[in-house]
Amino acid sequence: TSESIHSLIDTEQGKIDPRIYTDQELYELELERVFGRSWLLLGHESHVPKKGDYLTTYMGEDPVVMVRQRDGSIKVFHNQCRHRGMRICRADCGNAKAFTCTYHGWAYDTAGKLVNVPFEEEAFPSDFKKEDWGPLQARVEIYKGLVFANWDPEAPDLLTYLSDATPYMDTMLDRSEAGTEVIGTMQKWVIPCNWKFAAEQFAGDMYHAATTSHLAAVVAGLPEDQDLSVFQPHMKGHQFLSEWGGHGCGFYLDTARGSVRVGPLVDKYYSEGPAFERAKERLESKMPYHRMGASHMTIFPNCSFLPYGMNTVRTWHPKGPNEIEVWAFVIVDKDAPQEIKDELARQNVRTFSAGGVYEQDDGENWVEIQNALRGYKSKTAPLAMQMGLNVQGKNNPEFPGQTSYVFSEDVARGFYSHWVRMMSESSWDTLRPEPAKATTLSE
Ligand code: FES
Ligand code: FE
Repeated sequence: TSESIHSLIDTEQGKIDPRIYTDQELYELELERVFGRSWLLLGHESHVPKKGDYLTTYMGEDPVVMVRQRDGSIKVFHNQCRHRGMRICRADCGNAKAFTCTYHGWAYDTAGKLVNVPFEEEAFPSDFKKEDWGPLQARVEIYKGLVFANWDPEAPDLLTYLSDATPYMDTMLDRSEAGTEVIGTMQKWVIPCNWKFAAEQFAGDMYHAATTSHLAAVVAGLPEDQDLSVFQPHMKGHQFLSEWGGHGCGFYLDTARGSVRVGPLVDKYYSEGPAFERAKERLESKMPYHRMGASHMTIFPNCSFLPYGMNTVRTWHPKGPNEIEVWAFVIVDKDAPQEIKDELARQNVRTFSAGGVYEQDDGENWVEIQNALRGYKSKTAPLAMQMGLNVQGKNNPEFPGQTSYVFSEDVARGFYSHWVRMMSESSWDTLRPEPAKATTLSE
């Protein structure tokens, strides 16, 4: 019931019922109410540059195909044949003129229209209508290269959904008029943990960075003469909580950029010189871009990325309550020099990727938590989410939206209270107007 869902998250006392990470019934409800209604990241426009190019992926646990159409638009349809439910397209990506189901041969065009049924005339009733049996179609919208899809016809459009999170997304997506493109391939790996650990951490958890052993990985990858003081645990920074929805972002101020972690060449490109100056010019009307350091962001529910030079973008695809598949890709300014693109692709493999040294640091925590949560006692003791609660606010009006101190759980509370609302409210009429509240803000 709605009441019992509300009791799982206590934003006033700052408590989380750990069953939100393990319960199978709650998970089934998430597939319906969170993943069935939210805008979900599928990929980048440049994954499918030419007509007929496609990428197969997931919306929640539903397989989908994302295809570039003849008219340049992108369509997303359910990757499931309506005959007996076989996957229509079994490849990861490619180029196609049509898709033929490998079970009995029903064929679909690239827009997902059923165009051929073997032995239709001989074997099917005369009133069988192919147009009734095409796969389900999702809504598709693109924000500055990122392709999102939504099953729900009632959901607000993508821009309304992203709301005041867009200036923060722009620090990665809008540095140049040319926009961004994907470099390298889609990387995929499995982490045996609940999707919310990953999504919430990228939304608002800068707190872990000084403890979770990222620092060792940083130092190991730097030139010998690097000044290490830029990596001191930092006290300055903010987190941003979107006015509605659980989107959040955390960032340091006046310290090492994320790009320092991907080597001197990429760092230079992102921190000084013409590309940086141009980005500054484009972005400074919205926020003091030049002061922003390492940062991370989540667009609710399961799209996360690391702006400012790391540029890994991922979807945490849920696979049951206890597992995710991470699908990650790297984007770069489209007009960056080739040597920057090559070096960023290489550095990404070293840092945030399937075998990346930073990636392991984060994932290991989530796996250990998930293991512990198999226990009965582990599931019954509430978890603490009190950082920043009733603490005098640190809103910084130089940055758009509601901001608080970088070490706070305002964003976590916003993330989970939006999750509760998505899980318990049936209509967008009530989901729409009431914004998530940051509790520590004051003028
Ligand atoms: Fe696709 Fe039968 S399941 S043609
Ligand atoms: Fe981390």
